[in-house]
Amino acid sequence: MKKIALLLTIIVTLSATAQKFQNLALSPPMGWNSWNTFATNINEKLVMETADMMVNSGMKDAGYIYLVLDDGWMAMERDSVTGNLIADPVKFPNGIKKVVDYVHSKGLKFGLYNCAGTKTCAGYPGTRGYEYQDARQYAAWEIDYLKYDWCSTDGINAKEAYATMSKALKVAKRPIIFSLCEWGNNNPWEWAAPVGQLWRISGDIYNCFDCIKDWGTWKSLGVTHIIDARKNIRQYAGPDHWNDFDMMEVGHGMSVNEDRAHFTMWCMLASPLIAGNDLRHMTKETISILTDKDVIAINQDKKGVQAYLEQQLDSVDTWIKPLENNELAICFMNRSQKTVTINYNFQQHPVNDTVSKTVVDFAKTNFSITDVWKKIKAGSTRKLFSAVVPAHDVVLLRLKQE
Ligand code: GLA
Repeated sequence: MKKIALLLTIIVTLSATAQKFQNLALSPPMGWNSWNTFATNINEKLVMETADMMVNSGMKDAGYIYLVLDDGWMAMERDSVTGNLIADPVKFPNGIKKVVDYVHSKGLKFGLYNCAGTKTCAGYPGTRGYEYQDARQYAAWEIDYLKYDWCSTDGINAKEAYATMSKALKVAKRPIIFSLCEWGNNNPWEWAAPVGQLWRISGDIYNCFDCIKDWGTWKSLGVTHIIDARKNIRQYAGPDHWNDFDMMEVGHGMSVNEDRAHFTMWCMLASPLIAGNDLRHMTKETISILTDKDVIAINQDKKGVQAYLEQQLDSVDTWIKPLENNELAICFMNRSQKTVTINYNFQQHPVNDTVSKTVVDFAKTNFSITDVWKKIKAGSTRKLFSAVVPAHDVVLLRLKQE
């Protein structure tokens, strides 16, 4: 009897100290976020039209479920009597619950943004000191996802601040994905897995392939700079705890080749796939990139392994992502402005990945190759693999044991 009582006490204690809701993101979360295209120019109409487009464009069917409103949704001050956050009365004249209900009615989930500091990055009321109150408010509005930023946080300890908000969400009892956004400043990959489901690993993305945009006091990064910054933290990612390479810039100004390379790499890196473009004005190419089910399947693979950089030769990176059922995804990414022909002899590139414990000797085991974007069979690993990789583009392969 005593043993059972002790066991029960341990179980109760463990579940009380567990800080996040478990298993909300067994594969990388997929959705849309307002920031990259709209910044603070958001409103009820945009949310409703975007929700409609998520359904009508096929994005929802492809797996994009979360519609996340970033900075700028609030009024400049909290309610003077209750201290509650309130929606900007002009942008959201019917309040936040109205748009949450609309998004839910479409079979989608709803996300909001706030910040661990005293103010958000765009100067709206932050959550510092209001963690439990705000969490109760989010639960009352029935939101499903919270992105939590890191501006105006002088003197605040990141680990503690994020743990407090995570606990506040838990106490409010509504399962809400907790998305940390402190830009990798405090190595969240080392401590955030028990706290949230995803954490940003870099400063903000910029819609270029390999530029750096200097804003004076801070810089935003083109696609390749984000990839390069954090390729060595893959051991920290996995089901329910992901390295977040930032909202995507697909369909927001880069070339089709660059968009394809960017999207493919986010899939290879098991990054959350949060679109950041205007869904109401998408080209056919943008839709077909964002909704390619075979490429998304590599991102959503249940093994949840982030790709590793196997080789950098001339201007072409080779990335390998071990998948479930002993399959493999291989991506050749051409960083240069010129078309490159690659010749890859699998026999000379055995896989020995200590993170996923994947070992493959292509001299002993043959794999059939599918070109994932072209949707064609592309031979087997027995033969030298050759392909043309256009400038700033990729060739993506899926390998299956024969
Ligand atoms: C920070 C974040 C961005 C965005 C803005 C909003 O820069 O990193 O993703 O949320 O704040 O102000």
